[in-house]
Amino acid sequence: MATPAGGGAALCGPLLDYKTEKFALTRNRRVGLLHRLLQLAVLGYVLGWVFVVRRGYQDTDAAPRVSVVTKLKGVSVSRPEDARRRLWDAADFSRPPQGENVLFLVTNFIVTDRQVQGTCPESPSVLDGICMEDVDCSVGNPVVHGNGIKTGRCVMFNSTHSTCEIFGWCPVENDTLPRKPLLAEAENFTLFIKNTVNFTKFNFSKGNTLQTNDPTYFKTCMYDPFFSPSCPVFRIRDMVEAAGETFGALALMGGSISVRIEWDCDLDWPAAHCQPRYSFILLDRRYNFRTASYYWDSKRQHYRSLLKLYGIRFDISVHGQAGKFGIIPAAVSFGTGIAFLGTATIICDMVLLYLDAKADLYWKEKFEEAKPPKGKKAAAAEAQRAGQDLGDAQQCALE
Ligand SMILES: *[C@@H]1O[C@H](CO)[C@@H](O)[C@H](O)[C@H]1NC(C)=O
Repeated sequence: MATPAGGGAALCGPLLDYKTEKFALTRNRRVGLLHRLLQLAVLGYVLGWVFVVRRGYQDTDAAPRVSVVTKLKGVSVSRPEDARRRLWDAADFSRPPQGENVLFLVTNFIVTDRQVQGTCPESPSVLDGICMEDVDCSVGNPVVHGNGIKTGRCVMFNSTHSTCEIFGWCPVENDTLPRKPLLAEAENFTLFIKNTVNFTKFNFSKGNTLQTNDPTYFKTCMYDPFFSPSCPVFRIRDMVEAAGETFGALALMGGSISVRIEWDCDLDWPAAHCQPRYSFILLDRRYNFRTASYYWDSKRQHYRSLLKLYGIRFDISVHGQAGKFGIIPAAVSFGTGIAFLGTATIICDMVLLYLDAKADLYWKEKFEEAKPPKGKKAAAAEAQRAGQDLGDAQQCALE
């Protein structure tokens, strides 16, 4: 083994030895081909999927800080059955007025003017309000799902229905809905959505509005996924249709639409490549609520105007993720890729040792059996080698 002429380094053999692996080569074409195919598949997966599609070499931030500001615009004149014109502008048909990420646009309504507190017959559309005689209306009980407290009398509502008399806001609401939406012009109203995302991990901010010096740009443009994707002004009808519904159907009974803004930014590219994508999903087909305005007339009578509003509720949510090259994720992805290459060898070994016709032969070649030494001569040679190793170690320590 080590000779004195080999110098000091050779004497420290066990420490500085490099043991390279020994391979058994076979010219088995089928397993060879399988091995190459597996390597190709792993390489394709690592390069194509992990690195190109999933961008595994990047650090990601999937929780941006977002802000959304909205504004509805448009004017509509409604003509309810009683032929009184009523003008609706942005302050009337959008609620809440601040422009939040959840907003409501009125498209249809039932108005009950001049309600005062007093007694009147309950509406026949309320089941618990229908009666045949006074005993059906027990005094002091509220009408279930109704509008007031029973006074104990059963009265005629009209020629065909008799209902319990109630104490409440009178007259009660007549809840027959107009057959056509009263604010049909709302289909041409516009919704301006201003959205900013901030990826704090990369200290990167971007808005969805075009950086432009033209002050009229946002007043004249209209969003279109192909022709003007950077205009954040959306026509209501376009949004409803993108959600898979017609405006007329949704405007009548109201509904709820989710507007999703998705940012998927690769910050290894210039910031201009980081653009939002919009999608619209119909969430619900019915939406309404009631609201009232209160007045005192000249005789100090307290009364109110009740509005039952039907309309479209927009729910705007922002999702985003950004990625930028990072040395640690790149190293981890690379390491996993290399480790995956090892599985090709394991699978080929399995095929060779268990499935091949000449498995026995390969088995013998691959595994050498360690046999115990036979006879005194071998034992002596072993002992001598051990002694020499010890000598080497001592010499190494002395240097
Ligand atoms: C909406 O605008 C289009 C064209 O801009 C027009 O043809 C249509 O009549 C308008 N809708 C309503 C209800 O006014």
